[in-house]
Parts: sequence; C-alpha cells; structure tokens
Amino acid sequence: MSTRPLAGVLGHPVAHSLSPAIQNAAFRAAGLDWRYLKLPVPPERFTEVVRALPASGYRGANVTIPHKLAALELAGEATGAARAIGAANTLIFRAETIGADNTDAQGLLEAISTPVAGVRAVVLGAGGAGRAAVWALIQAGAGRVAVWNRTPEKARALARDLGAECAGHALEGGPDLLVNATSVGLDPSVPAGAALEALGLGGSEPPATVVDLVYRGDGGVTPVTAWATRGGARTIDGIEVLVQQGARSFELWTGRSAPLDAMRAAARSG
Ligand code: ATR
Repeated sequence: MSTRPLAGVLGHPVAHSLSPAIQNAAFRAAGLDWRYLKLPVPPERFTEVVRALPASGYRGANVTIPHKLAALELAGEATGAARAIGAANTLIFRAETIGADNTDAQGLLEAISTPVAGVRAVVLGAGGAGRAAVWALIQAGAGRVAVWNRTPEKARALARDLGAECAGHALEGGPDLLVNATSVGLDPSVPAGAALEALGLGGSEPPATVVDLVYRGDGGVTPVTAWATRGGARTIDGIEVLVQQGARSFELWTGRSAPLDAMRAAARSG
C-alpha cells in the first residue's frame, strides 16, 4: 500500500488546470515524495468527495470553479481572508478538521512584489477574483481602491461590502495600478481590440503597473498584458499570480518554503 502523500485540484471542469504541473514540479524540487492530481468533481458530489480525501492519503487540495464557496462552507476552520473574500481556494486536511484558506489575495500581493501602501488602484471585475483583489489591496493599505464592472450594480455591492469605491470607467482618476480581474482576454477568438474596448481601455495609456489575472493555457499573450507592455507599464501576468497563490498553498500543506523558480518554469512550459 502506498503511503505517498497526495494533494489535488478540485474543479468542474479541471482538465486544463496548470496546477498539477506547478505543484508536482514544486514537490520534486523540494525533494518531497508527494503527488498532485486533477480531481474532476461535479457540484453534487463535492462534499462527499472532499470528506473522503483525508482517509485516502490527501493532505490538502486546491479548489477552483465552481467549488470555492462550497469549500468554505464545509470547512471546520477558515482564515479571515477566506471568510472576508467569501471563498476558499485551498483546503488543508488536518488530523481533527478541514481548514480553509484563500491564497488568491496573498498571491496577488506577492506577484506585485512592491509595496502597495498608498497606491491608487482600480480593479476591473466584481466576481470572485475581483473580490479577492479588492480585499487584498485594501488589507495591504492601498491609498484608494476603486472597482469597475460591466454590470455596475455588482461593483456597487462589492464596494459597499468591502469598503472600496466605485469607478465610472477603468482609468478613472489616473490610477497607479490596474488589476484585470474580469474574464476578458480568456477567449483567444475575441480580437484584442474588442477585448480592450469591452474594458474601456482602447486608445488609452496604461498606468505604471498592470496586473492581468487572465492567463491562457497555451501560454499566449493576453490583450491586457500586450496593451500594458506596449505602453511601457510594469506588467504582471496571470501565470505569475497563479504561481504565487500556488506557492502559498504548497507552504500551507508542507510547511516548507516554495521552490518558486521550479514552479514558474513548470507553469510557463505548460
Ligand atoms: P471570477 O470568479 O473569475 O471572478 P465571475 O464571477 O464569472 O468569475 O466574474 C467574471 C467577471 O468578468 C465579472 O466581473 C464579469 O462582469 P459582469 O459582472 O458584468 O458579468 C466580467 N466579464 C465577463 N465578460 C465580460 C465582458 N465581455 N466585458 C466586461 N466584463 C466581463
């Protein structure tokens, strides 16, 4: 019988996740005999599957669409980040209970890597990713955090909930930092110009720093990162944010510091 520790990513669908490549590279580089697997689980099976994982050798899991809320609800313990964001992307299977955390917020701040205290930021998007980004920037002491969304009521609700402002358009007030937390740019069949227009960025200059949470599995450049690079912005792509949030999850499960270079190399080679 194998006693090799396991971890995995719970999602539906999960076929295109880069997390197995990233985490298995991390285990190898850290000299840990762990294995990380894709765990495709439909919503109606989520709770029973998660509860069965610890006895099957699982030490932890990442959680992606559509299970982040259900993961928070089933956990016995949750961090302040997971509760405030209202979603968990990391589960830790402890002896007595299941712990839930959200490493998206910390991952974003690590990816930005320069202090955001006092910075004026606009976050595009008011879904789960937008919520994590707004919460992270407020926690880190950003000077102004404004949220813009195609459907303004959702931006208003998020802003009210987390104590952010609403932006009438993407570059309102000349921000220092722009975070694209919408799904715009994910679909390679949408022309780059149309994607930028959908976000109100067409024909404008980027701010000093731009983060695009969107990444494409094929390693393709996204419309927002191309626009930011062209305009001379410091540009942080979705792969770097994915690696950083994965690194925090790795540390929560193993108690070891994450081998970031190996994780980045694995993410970029798909
Ligand atoms: P996630 O959990 O990744 O944030 P989500 O909750 O589905 O995913 O949110 C997707 C975000 O992308 C939303 O802010 C959505 O805007 P709406 O609230 O108006 O739907 C945004 N989005 C998706 N397609 C868009 C488009 N074509 N133009 C502008 N925003 C778009």
